[in-house]
Formats: sequence, structure tokens, C-alpha cells
Amino acid sequence: MKIEELTEIVNQKLDEYMEVVYPQKIFKSMKYTVMLPGKRLRPIMCIESARLFGVDINEVLPTACAIEMLHAQTLIHDDLPCMDNDDYRRGKLTNHKVFGEAIAVLAGDALLTYAPQIILKHSKKLNSETILKILSEYFQAAGAYGVIAGQVMDIEAEKLHSPYQAYDVENKYTEQDAELLHFIHLHKTSDLFKLAVRCGAIIGGASGNELNSLTEFAEKMGIAFQIADDILDETSTFDKMGKTLGKDKEAGKLTYVSLYGMDKAKSDLNKLIEECSSILNENNFNSEIFEVILNKIKAC
Ligand code: IPE
Ligand code: IPE
Ligand code: MG
Ligand code: MG
Ligand code: MG
Repeated sequence: MKIEELTEIVNQKLDEYMEVVYPQKIFKSMKYTVMLPGKRLRPIMCIESARLFGVDINEVLPTACAIEMLHAQTLIHDDLPCMDNDDYRRGKLTNHKVFGEAIAVLAGDALLTYAPQIILKHSKKLNSETILKILSEYFQAAGAYGVIAGQVMDIEAEKLHSPYQAYDVENKYTEQDAELLHFIHLHKTSDLFKLAVRCGAIIGGASGNELNSLTEFAEKMGIAFQIADDILDETSTFDKMGKTLGKDKEAGKLTYVSLYGMDKAKSDLNKLIEECSSILNENNFNSEIFEVILNKIKAC
């Protein structure tokens, strides 16, 4: 299947799962951000990872969609005035701009628990041991060991490292800064990529070695993706990204570009993409979908 076809299947399933019931206000708010036109990278990666092991798409769709719901949760909270304070997401007003801050906070909270409920409710063909493993992956990635750890340090680093210009002089950064940035990227971004790919592989009954290789692949891809996002914040346009750009610099964010400069950011990004391709080749994971995604990240 092509990426466009997978995107369409994911969109249809998400629409079906995001049922609006009483109290409509909260379900509408949850559905609003989930259904905005995101790239659906994480669910597609989950489906593709499962496909490598011969899994039928219907078996993995509830998990894939749940991961997209979790991703939407992170976006809603990431955009709040107390976090990145963004007015636009996926080309439209952010959740709190449409529904107000209180409902946006609650919609994020609600999605965090709604997503694993979707897995439990719809994964009829998976045995209970597999479901337990998937839920355990979900909670690890979604909570304070995962994406929240990354988001906390992303916010903390703003205070530590503002103004952004501090790194303009070459080699001014310390080993601690480099470690901090790696921690932030690993958790705020790679953890959901890993979750997606690992869940697909677990559903497919991957061996320990296969799971380790795919985990390494997803981790590197997540870091590459965040480097690309950091680069695009300085170089892209609202029309292409659907969000207000130039915000990282304004907020004094610790980003790959602020720490290492644009040239190194681009070359390290491309190096990571090469490493991702090598992992696929070495393990005979033949995947056009993963190659297409890698190329898109690289092309920035
Ligand atoms: C945005 O992720 C958040 C980051 C990790 C940079 P995406 O760029 O995948 O967002 P959507 O889902 O396509 O909107
Ligand atoms: C977002 O990182 C990561 C999460 C939402 C967890 P950014 O703050 O850089 O993402 P954008 O640029 O707002 O999409
Ligand atoms: Mg952020
Ligand atoms: Mg943000
Ligand atoms: Mg960003």
C-alpha cells in the first residue's frame, strides 16, 4: 500500500473512533485536533512495522490510531499558553484558541486515557498477553518516563539557555548542554516513534533481535525528525508547516540548530537518515514506506 492510501485508512478509522457523545464539548474538542490534517506518521509507522511481520492492517489499526490520539494529546498541551503558546496547528487554530484553555487541558487529559481504551475495546483479535505488552509500552512512552520527561526538560532548558544567541559563537556549548538536548529529543519525540514501531513489531511477534533493531531505527528516526523540525522552524513557511515558525528562537529554546548551528544540524540529520537506512538493509526489513518517510525527513 502507498502512504496516501494508508493515510486515508487511518483518517477514516480515527473519524469512526472519535465518536462525539455527551458531554459534546469535550468530545468535540478531542476530535478537533485528532482530525486536523496531520501527516499521520506515527500510525503509518506502526502499521508498516506490523506489516514487516505479515500482520493484517485491521489487527494493528486500533493501536496505530491510539498512538495518533496520544500524539494529538501532546500537541494540544504543547501549544498551550503555559507551554509553547502557539495559535496555529496543522494549518488551523490551536485547540485552546477554539475551545478555551480549560477545555483544551481536559481534552488532552481525556485523550491520554481514551487512547488505551480504544486499544482495549477494538483489539479483538489480539491475545491478552500482547495487549498487556502494548499497554505497557503505551504507558511508558506517554508518561513521566517518556514524552513528559522530554517536555519538562524542553521547558526547563528555555530558562537555562535563553537567550538563544548564546550558542552563536562556535564551540560554546558544553557536554552537559549536548546531553540535555539529546535527552529532550529522545523523550519528547523519539519515544512516540519507538512506541509506534515497537507496538507494530510486538503485534507481529518480532524476535528480541528484530525488536531491538527496530527500536534503534525508530529512536534514530525520531531524533532525525526533531532535528528536521528544529531546522524547519527557521527555514520553512506557515503554508508548508501549518504552524507559526521562528518561535524557537523567540522563546530561547534549546534546539539542535541553536546548539550546533544550521550546517551541523543538516549534516547530522542526513547522517542519522543514512544510519536508519542501514539498519533496514542489514536486517532485511524491506520497506518502501519507511524509505519514503526517511526521504521526506531528509529533504528539508
Ligand atoms: C509535530 O509532529 C511535533 C514534533 C515532534 C515536531 P508532526 O510534524 O508529526 O505533526 P503532525 O502530526 O504532522 O501535525
Ligand atoms: C514538540 O516539539 C514535541 C511534542 C509535541 C511532544 P515542538 O514544540 O518543537 O513541536 P512543534 O514545533 O510545536 O510542532
Ligand atoms: Mg514544544
Ligand atoms: Mg511546540
Ligand atoms: Mg518545533
